Amino acid sequence: MKLALIGFMGSGKSSVAKELSVLSNIPILEMDQHVLNKTGFSSMQQLFANGGEQLLRQTEMELVKEHLPTQSLIVSTGGGIVTNPDTMLHLKNNHTTIFFLNTTFQTIQKRLHNDTTRPLFQQNAQELYNLRLPLYLKYADHIVSTDSLSPKEIAKQVLLFI
Ligand code: S3P
Repeated sequence: MKLALIGFMGSGKSSVAKELSVLSNIPILEMDQHVLNKTGFSSMQQLFANGGEQLLRQTEMELVKEHLPTQSLIVSTGGGIVTNPDTMLHLKNNHTTIFFLNTTFQTIQKRLHNDTTRPLFQQNAQELYNLRLPLYLKYADHIVSTDSLSPKEIAKQVLLFI
């Protein structure tokens, strides 16, 4: 079973992936961490300052290509993965079920207002959210509304679909 969690920064993808992994015993591909390992940068700020967003999107694509032949995987994506149609097509073509963790902007803002690790959130978060929402909806096989749920509860909802 292969599944990917998509959603805006702060929607809980990494926490939900951990809970899912515990419940299902399926390993996680934590994309942001793998992107940093592969590019050699120690943080997203460093990657954005040196390689730009293009490097991030290209590396995400390469990682998906490398890892998707795996039989079972929980892919915890970065929030902007949906902006690269090739990466999304590759996920779809490799029988990955895509879950959109749908979180309101108000909740995300409460969670991330002090965050300093996400360069794109600090720039134009609301605008980015509005631009991306249709993309998350377009690529999702299933949508889970997460505002009032804990990561464990969300993981259980995800498992109900598969
Ligand atoms: C990004 C989201 C981040 C990370 C990078 C860019 C985005 O991941 O990939 O800072 O474009 O939305 P999270 O969604 O895990 O915060």
